[in-house]
Amino acid sequence: MALGAQSLMRLALALLGIGLCLAAESDNEIFAPPAGAAFPKGPVRFVARAVGDAKPTVDGKPVPTESPHAGVLKGELDLPPGAHEIALGDKKARFFVGEGAPAEFKQFREHPAMQTGCDTCHAVRNDAWRFKRISLANVCSQCHDKATFQKKHTHEMGVIQDCQMCHAPHGSTAFASLKMTKDKACQICHPLK
Ligand code: HEC
Ligand code: HEC
Ligand code: HEC
Ligand code: HEC
Repeated sequence: MALGAQSLMRLALALLGIGLCLAAESDNEIFAPPAGAAFPKGPVRFVARAVGDAKPTVDGKPVPTESPHAGVLKGELDLPPGAHEIALGDKKARFFVGEGAPAEFKQFREHPAMQTGCDTCHAVRNDAWRFKRISLANVCSQCHDKATFQKKHTHEMGVIQDCQMCHAPHGSTAFASLKMTKDKACQICHPLK
């Protein structure tokens, strides 16, 4: 069967989509603190992907960080109460430390797995920062029961094993650290007719 013009167009769009995704993967990205988050007093965890030798600044000043692998940055930001801005390359995020956060900031929901360290989920393999297991579901099911997963997700873990499609694993301000509303999340694969 010959490919129709429409299928060719769809294929081209799909390939373009992949190209754009890969380009986005190699950008600087601040995972934590996320924009608009409010933290209690005390150190704020910093997690980022960095391109080249990009280093973060807070309120325009350099801050100490560690790099467990090339392109990976982490640290603990010890900051006075009030609003702050973190920047890494062209990425910026405003967040708040201490009590009395203005309404534009929402309470940060730390993912408890962050307390057990990066190697709870990550490992360096073939000189790249990857997940500890090939399947992300097997990383998360160290603590989240596969048997009860379907109750909240409709699907078994195997069908939606790319948890990061919907969840921000380093914590966020959203309910269940969702990157989008539940409706939108399901529509990734079930488009509205
Ligand atoms: C609960 C599991 C988990 C823990 C703990 C965790 N991460 Fe991640 N990490 C992920 C997931 C899942 C992704 C994919 C995120 C996405 O696409 O939004 C990711 C992505 C990343 C990336 C981007 C990788 C790339 O190639 O794009 C970096 C960098 C990173 N994590 C650093 C860290 C650091 C540093 C720590 C410890 C301070 C840490 N992570 C702790 C699960 C975790
Ligand atoms: C070291 C154990 C551990 C690992 C590994 C782990 N988690 Fe968690 N996670 C927890 C705990 C503890 C909670 C809080 C109690 C709960 O909701 O089950 C939690 C909560 C969550 C929540 C709810 C957050 C909220 O704000 O309500 C999500 C979503 C989540 N985890 C996703 C993941 C994903 C995705 C992975 C794999 C990338 C993962 N977890 C790996 C321990 C872990
Ligand atoms: C298609 C989007 C999507 C994917 C992919 C996804 N989730 Fe979720 N998850 C959700 C939604 C939506 C909720 C909120 C459900 C509710 O309470 O209404 C949720 C809630 C959770 C919670 C908190 C509620 C609970 O059951 O304790 C955890 C933990 C969780 N997800 C873990 C995971 C893990 C681990 C993976 C990967 C194996 C994953 N999720 C993949 C959409 C997703
Ligand atoms: C990664 C893609 C993917 C995501 C995301 C996804 N689904 Fe599905 N869903 C499927 C596939 C594939 C099927 C058909 C095969 C099956 O039943 O496993 C399906 C089938 C279903 C069915 C059975 C009825 C039907 O139309 O065949 C329901 C109900 C459903 N999904 C609900 C959800 C909900 C609710 C969410 C969001 C929490 C969601 N799905 C997210 C891939 C996905």
